[in-house]
Amino acid sequence: MPPKKIAIVTSSTRSPRLNPTITRYIYETLNKDPEIPTRKIIPHISSNTNTDPIPIPETDIPDTDPRHITLSIIDLKSQNLPLYDEPIIPATLPASNPAPHYKKPHTRAWSTVIQEYDAFIFVTPQYNWSVPASLKNALDYLFHEWKGKPAGIVTYGSRGGVKAADHLRGILTGLRMRVVPTSVGLPVKFTGVPVGTLSEEEEEVFIDERDLEGWKEAGVEGMLRNLGMEIVCELDKN
Ligand SMILES: Cc1cc2nc3c(=O)[nH]c(=O)nc-3n(C[C@H](O)[C@H](O)[C@H](O)COP(=O)(O)O)c2cc1C
Repeated sequence: MPPKKIAIVTSSTRSPRLNPTITRYIYETLNKDPEIPTRKIIPHISSNTNTDPIPIPETDIPDTDPRHITLSIIDLKSQNLPLYDEPIIPATLPASNPAPHYKKPHTRAWSTVIQEYDAFIFVTPQYNWSVPASLKNALDYLFHEWKGKPAGIVTYGSRGGVKAADHLRGILTGLRMRVVPTSVGLPVKFTGVPVGTLSEEEEEVFIDERDLEGWKEAGVEGMLRNLGMEIVCELDKN
């Protein structure tokens, strides 16, 4: 059995945006965590100064250990989904094979992407006390592809985006996903998109050191580990 696949979903689609940087922070935090069973190698260093396991690149020899999980990133921006335009209601399609019933090629393509994964961590900003329309839209396109799969929620916003997390928990529960209890909210008090300093083509928005420090003090890495382990435990039940 191949390793289980968890996708970390980047949800905002504007430019420039903070979401890819936050997603990468979560990917790196989970990938290097010793408790999360991503494939790791011990570097060949003779001195005992550094024996931390480090993640090996995804492009290396295929991992066939069924106890492992692999983490990947799905960026909704690169999916280019238009506003929902299917004439059908996804939940009414045959559960075992909904894809041929979609009328639009972009829905079939999106269905193929999501069918590949066993679980998801949605990383989203708060927009006006909820999730961005881009995330709701991408979720609405499908039903059976999400149904029954474990899901975790990470939000960010000036106070961590708890209202977005509450809305998202409701939406994912409606899709019959198995939402894990821990959700993580990252307050971004100092990190912002500096007005006028970035062009639309620039993606990279750095996380302000003061926010990183605040997250560290609040034990964010431990919370992310709990979220990751809850998803791993849910996957073990499959
Ligand atoms: C349309 C819009 C609405 C927003 N509403 C909220 C809000 O309700 N609460 C909050 O804390 N931040 C809010 N923000 C701030 C965002 O959380 C913050 O700008 C974040 O960096 C946006 O993520 P992004 O850059 O990946 O799009 C809002 C931002 C936008 C663009």
